[in-house]
Amino acid sequence: MSDAPRRLGILLSGRGSNFLAIHHAIAEGRLPNVEIALVLANVAAASGLEAAIQLGLPTALQVSKGTPREDHDAAMIALLREAKVDWVVLAGYMRVLTPAFISAFPNRIVNIHPSLLPAFPGLHAQRQALDYGAKVAGCTVHLVDEAVDHGTIVLQRAVPVLDTDDEATLSARILAEEHLAYPQALARLTSGRYTIRGRQFRQA
Ligand code: GAR
Repeated sequence: MSDAPRRLGILLSGRGSNFLAIHHAIAEGRLPNVEIALVLANVAAASGLEAAIQLGLPTALQVSKGTPREDHDAAMIALLREAKVDWVVLAGYMRVLTPAFISAFPNRIVNIHPSLLPAFPGLHAQRQALDYGAKVAGCTVHLVDEAVDHGTIVLQRAVPVLDTDDEATLSARILAEEHLAYPQALARLTSGRYTIRGRQFRQA
């Protein structure tokens, strides 16, 4: 593998706190030999996009609303290819990807989800955990395959669910772990020093 920095294409739809955690990790040297090649939003009002512009990072906006899913994803693929990204990093990107998108970047799309998968996939994972009565919650960084919130697990971090929790307090406790988990997982992936057998991710 060449020593050129690994180029991340970050996809987001909203706040972008995971994107900012990744940006800080790169700035602090916790994510070596990695650079952000593009921050790509599908929602014009996404505050993560504004934050990326303020930081002077390369950005693009491809509004998804009103566009057929296949056409939108084709436009996203073109932007990511133009930016020569090595890894597609979903950071609060709240749209299901088409099979065409997933096969355009095989085993190179990463997602973070606010539950300990396979528990509580889909929307409102933190509320699902509370409603179910789970005593432990957390977050999962995983590779993306064609099933929602399903691909190979790279890393998980757990937090307790407290009797006093509501959705906001539990989400905040999980989010703090997300901000640690995503840079750690990306460091493992971009190092290239790992193997995947079946569903099992191992650091080499
Ligand atoms: C995060 O909690 C992330 O895990 C979740 O959206 C939030 C985005 O926050 N993603 C999903 O639920 C994906 N299924 P952020 O914009 O501040 O990073």
